[in-house]
Amino acid sequence: MAKGKKTAFFCQSCGYESAKWMGQCPGCKEWNTFVEELPVSKSTGKSAGNTVVKNDPVSLRQIDLKEDASLSSGLVELDRVLGGGIVEGSLVLVGGDPGIGKSTLLLQMCRHLAQKGIKVLYISGEESLRQIKLRARRIGEFTDDLLLLCETSLGVIEQVIERQKPQAVIIDSIQTMYNEEIASAPGSVSQVRESTSVLLQIAKGKGVSIFIVGHVTKEGNVAGPRVLEHMVDTVLYFEGDRHASYRILRSVKNRFGSTNEIGVFEMRDTGLVEVKNPSDFLLDGRPQDASGSVVACSMEGTRPILIEVQALVCKTNFGIPRRTAAGADFNRVNLLMAVLEKRLGLNLANCDAYVNIAGGIKMHEPAIDLGIVLAVISSYRDRPIPDSVIAFGEVGLSGEIRAVSMAEQRVQEAKKLGFETVILPKVSLKTVDKIKGIRLLGIQSLKEIKTLGFLD
Ligand code: TYD
Ligand code: MG
Repeated sequence: MAKGKKTAFFCQSCGYESAKWMGQCPGCKEWNTFVEELPVSKSTGKSAGNTVVKNDPVSLRQIDLKEDASLSSGLVELDRVLGGGIVEGSLVLVGGDPGIGKSTLLLQMCRHLAQKGIKVLYISGEESLRQIKLRARRIGEFTDDLLLLCETSLGVIEQVIERQKPQAVIIDSIQTMYNEEIASAPGSVSQVRESTSVLLQIAKGKGVSIFIVGHVTKEGNVAGPRVLEHMVDTVLYFEGDRHASYRILRSVKNRFGSTNEIGVFEMRDTGLVEVKNPSDFLLDGRPQDASGSVVACSMEGTRPILIEVQALVCKTNFGIPRRTAAGADFNRVNLLMAVLEKRLGLNLANCDAYVNIAGGIKMHEPAIDLGIVLAVISSYRDRPIPDSVIAFGEVGLSGEIRAVSMAEQRVQEAKKLGFETVILPKVSLKTVDKIKGIRLLGIQSLKEIKTLGFLD
């Protein structure tokens, strides 16, 4: 760093600023993430938001909402996580591991917008025009309204947007963008933050919808999207097992709609295809008459999703039992096993236990507790649970089965997919007793599991 200029250290993972180098970041507790950078001086740095609106305050009642301000992205699943569609002048961050399909998703969205005659500008700092064309060829035909630009300098990008006046802009990715006013390298916290604040001003000032791609990195050598989560309107994370074909788009922050909505896609050789019925998709290939497998139900936003919970309990060969949880919360699984040990007297202390949510999807809703518990008991006793049974409910520390929200939707989904029996918390029974044609077994505590008849 140049002598005489005061530098500071920034955590590349969360943006924490410190005068001296530290091994562990006090903000996000990551190790080895501090990098020396020139801080942005207050006079040159454009800070987010405060230069956008220069006029007088107006009364809330006078603000006129234009009819139908949001545009459809052409993908129902994407519209859902966006809160209905693309809002004019919004800034959306799409995060995810490299190679998960962020560029593909956004290119597909651009294709649809361009087909409707909306001018879209796709700016790539990572790929050449040829590479983008190769990807586009797999997706389909494009119209002339999609413009491509390979550029990393924000100054140039700003001029191009000024000249072309597109309605939507894609920045792929923010970690490659470079603002000449800032001395630090592209991808560092100051660069990423300042570039985003420039984009924020373009979005709000010109009413352009901007989508920013941000890579999530574990190593911390590139600033993660967390640094800019607070600046943007909507944060979407694209997740999924790289080896499995489906991808889940999750909204973690949304100023225009509810969060926790998910969109499910499948990666095919012709790009991403929407999965209309995720439960069907996730239950595909379920084993028949196998112990340790049960179907549970989790709500993702407003949608119930049925998943298969699998458990494998076997004798420990070494002193300390081994436990793993894939897709479910590890601590929660340990807690549920302790409850089983204490309340039902299962001798799990000598057993290894592996719990898995099939398909690699991550589910953290407490409503899948009952599913995990049943799968563990089923594997421990080596007694299969009938295929036509699904279970949901939260399990408390004293072994009680507690109510969960939206029981009715869950039962309806089970019925739609042809399940015959639902095991649910007894207190939820009164909200669902209108539903006919499916057997409802309400239980109050874990002790009642033996009365179900298939797990003794
Ligand atoms: P990409 O959109 O480049 O990922 P990101 O921008 O998040 O880094 O997607 C890359 C992966 O998707 C790559 O492994 C190839 C695969 N893919 C398909 O399987 N089918 C397709 O039609 C396309 C375009 C990509
Ligand atoms: Mg990409």
